[in-house]
Amino acid sequence: MASDWPLTFLVLFLFIGFGTKQHTQGEAIAAAKYLDLSGALAWLDVESNHDVLYDPAEQRTHTRQLQQQQQQHPHILTQTTTTSTFLERRALEKRCRGTTGDWCGGYELQQPVPLKPAPRGSRTCPRNCSGVGNCNHDTGTCDCPAGSQGEDCGTVLLRPCTTHFRHGGSEPAGHIDDEGRDLGLTDPGYTESRCTGICDPVTARCFCDGTYRRVNPPKGSPPGTPAPVRGRPLGNHVCQVSDDGRGNKLEWGQVPWEQIYGPNGWCNSNKPDIRCGCLFDGFSGELCDEVTETMCPNQCSGHGECDSGFCKCHDGWYGTDCARKVSGQPLEPGLHDTGSRPWLRDTVRVPPEAAAAVAGLGSTAAGGAGGGGPGAAGQSASIHTRRRPLIYVYDLPPAYNARMLQYRNDKGLCTWRGFGSGNRTEIFAWTYGLEVLFHEMLLQSEHRTFDPEAADYFYVPVYGSCFIFPLHCYADGPWWHVPSGPRVMHVTNMMLEVRDWIRKHFPYWDRRGGRDHIWLMTHDEGACYAPTEIYNSSIFLTHWGRIDKHHASNTAFTPDNYTQEYVHPEQPGGWLHLIDGHPCYTPGKDLVVPALKLPHHFRQSPLLFHPPRQRDILLYLRGDVGKHRLPNYSRGIRQRLYRLWRDQQWLQGYNVMIGDGSDVPGDYSEHLSRSKFCLVVPGDGWSPRLEDAVLHGCVPVIIMDGVHGVWEDQLELERFSIRVGEDELEGLPQQLAVVPQRVLEDMQRKLRKVWHRYAYVSHPLLSEEMKAVLQSNLGVWREQLQRVGKREDALVARTTAQLEQRAVFPAQDDAFHTVLQWLYWRIPQTRAFR
Ligand SMILES: *[C@@H]1O[C@H](CO)[C@@H](O)[C@H](O)[C@H]1NC(C)=O
Ligand SMILES: *[C@@H]1O[C@H](CO)[C@@H](O)[C@H](O)[C@H]1NC(C)=O
Ligand SMILES: *[C@@H]1O[C@H](CO)[C@@H](O)[C@H](O)[C@H]1NC(C)=O
Ligand SMILES: *[C@@H]1O[C@H](CO)[C@@H](O)[C@H](O)[C@H]1NC(C)=O
Ligand SMILES: *[C@@H]1O[C@H](CO)[C@@H](O)[C@H](O)[C@H]1NC(C)=O
Repeated sequence: MASDWPLTFLVLFLFIGFGTKQHTQGEAIAAAKYLDLSGALAWLDVESNHDVLYDPAEQRTHTRQLQQQQQQHPHILTQTTTTSTFLERRALEKRCRGTTGDWCGGYELQQPVPLKPAPRGSRTCPRNCSGVGNCNHDTGTCDCPAGSQGEDCGTVLLRPCTTHFRHGGSEPAGHIDDEGRDLGLTDPGYTESRCTGICDPVTARCFCDGTYRRVNPPKGSPPGTPAPVRGRPLGNHVCQVSDDGRGNKLEWGQVPWEQIYGPNGWCNSNKPDIRCGCLFDGFSGELCDEVTETMCPNQCSGHGECDSGFCKCHDGWYGTDCARKVSGQPLEPGLHDTGSRPWLRDTVRVPPEAAAAVAGLGSTAAGGAGGGGPGAAGQSASIHTRRRPLIYVYDLPPAYNARMLQYRNDKGLCTWRGFGSGNRTEIFAWTYGLEVLFHEMLLQSEHRTFDPEAADYFYVPVYGSCFIFPLHCYADGPWWHVPSGPRVMHVTNMMLEVRDWIRKHFPYWDRRGGRDHIWLMTHDEGACYAPTEIYNSSIFLTHWGRIDKHHASNTAFTPDNYTQEYVHPEQPGGWLHLIDGHPCYTPGKDLVVPALKLPHHFRQSPLLFHPPRQRDILLYLRGDVGKHRLPNYSRGIRQRLYRLWRDQQWLQGYNVMIGDGSDVPGDYSEHLSRSKFCLVVPGDGWSPRLEDAVLHGCVPVIIMDGVHGVWEDQLELERFSIRVGEDELEGLPQQLAVVPQRVLEDMQRKLRKVWHRYAYVSHPLLSEEMKAVLQSNLGVWREQLQRVGKREDALVARTTAQLEQRAVFPAQDDAFHTVLQWLYWRIPQTRAFR
């Protein structure tokens, strides 16, 4: 970074790129200023920039050397350690700069293990799961989708729309007739599932009545019977009528009857006056009549039909993502490979172990090899070894994950991707998006093993955040053990139930007392309310690093308060004793991992090769500052900061920005790219502010006593961030303003060595998105260079070439791989006895 701001700014830069919109909106915020050519070139060229991204030329040299060695000594990659050359060691040291302790590096130095083809189960299931579910040929148990239950999926499972929730008993508290209409529209009682049309009693989703009505299967139909008419969606709570058409007001709707059920209403006309959104997964088009692909983990590996989260596997295939095949049957190519569903190619990745089975690697039972498509079968034939850790991903009963996705009444919830019109892939921001993403990245990974005997770790994919929001209390179920009480309590109960299921079907929990089991809890207060029996031994991945043992919930959202006891006949001892006596995070055992931020979110970051701007904002925080919150939101920190900012005129005095969108209008990514310091403060629990700061090259100012930030125990966080006590807010700008430029630059440089560990790109869609953002930013650079470089053609050409070569994201050390590298290092500790 140039140490002095240049005297002449490239005014030209202001006319292109993204920086011009803001000054019309907020007088408070001046226009961004870009570095001038020499400043930008210095930024690009200085030694420090080599830390940002690897030098591809150097990488190519390594690869060539390695290939030559391999030709001369073919055993190198398969039998001995791969890393023996000086160059490789140097590269590795570079990659591990900024990390603490000795966890980094071993993963790369390890001796790869042979890749064995996936084992294939042969157990059978009762009545073939009635043709509705999948038979898991390892356990001999049926996995049943929404609408069915029982050991053979032969029993109906309802989740009807209702006005209230049950207090006991086993029948759901539905409030609809046999066709799905509300039994008394004017009856009081609001739940998210109430429906002024036809309710699908299996998922509690609300569709039109009238001309474009839904027709449910007749009452009493066996599970899995398809609806004769799919119908036009109303969408729960979004497009409900506010009167019954006869002058009676409904207290819970918001659209006049006429607009839904009049002659030009949404449910009666093909040219309706208003349009309700196509909220449900699988519905698209102006009138929501286009059938699209729905979202499932790894899109059923191309070996099943996705039903909004649940994979109905093709004959003989099994597992959450249909990646397995019963023994003795041929392994035919998947839908993504045969060309029949080309849109699946963007998402489906066959993990090497499953692909090895297809390729007949290491065994003679070849089966129909996979059709030569671009899928993983082709690639994997050349992979004979792989690196540890090997991770076994449990195929849990769908109630704990897949079925929750089926119960969503909005395709934008619980996950971060889906399909739109024409089956185009869509990706979008979802706060708790890592829950589904992490599961899917593991399902696709070379580290996934299907052989639990070979596994270093076991991943338990419970979708607790999806349960907490939006599932819980949208309809009468699902819930765990008690049909009421704080929603976090249900997650505690569910996790214990899952642990018991694992113990019943596998010996691996008891083998090491759960120490080699991994759980992800992405909700606000992380693992604070994990069952102690599980927390004590297992590895927890969360976004919330609170370390005090005697903690009380600090959420301002009452249903998430985990310090409330709740006693019920079904749980007479209450639940607090289940979670007592452990902190939310234990350094060394657990990880505080980054929340999911899509590359688009930090597209204006100079670290993503957007032309760098001057960092003219001293300190920055935009978000909820608690104007309409209970006092304990953010421990009161945001509220106090906001008051100080306003009352002590931090904007005028120090160019500090603190507030919500009305106080600080403009482009968030641009602002962060212009800030020297960025605030990291809690929300109801975690808030992804450390991610935002680091990904934009802004030095984090962390204010949350007793809470470790993301990677705080894996990276030298204290060398690129500042910690401020919760009682030291007064005078903050004065203190930051006198941080010497040299010290600030040093922190910025250290940050650039590790920033990429805060982003996920290990999913095919994310890596594509990352490439697109990099390309688009390079375009901005190129344009700017051409404008200003009239007199210096050679310089422009050289710089452009340099930029293009460097603009690669170091995916091998992204957030996902950082977890894997750390897990590799920890293997021996999970073997030790307590
Ligand atoms: C179950 O399915 C298998 C394979 O699809 C088939 O061979 C078998 O006959 C079926 N069994 C029953 C009882 O339907
Ligand atoms: C999108 O995918 C669904 C499910 O596979 C299919 O029914 C539909 O025809 C596809 N649409 C297009 C335009 O290909
Ligand atoms: C969990 O660990 C704590 C601290 O070591 C211990 O006091 C407690 O008894 C353990 N609880 C269980 C259920 O293992
Ligand atoms: C959580 O509930 C407990 C018990 O009702 C209460 O004492 C505490 O104040 C609540 N916490 C918050 C942050 O509201
Ligand atoms: C609110 O937060 C403060 C500071 O974290 C804490 O001391 C207090 O107990 C909390 N109040 C409630 C009601 O939980």
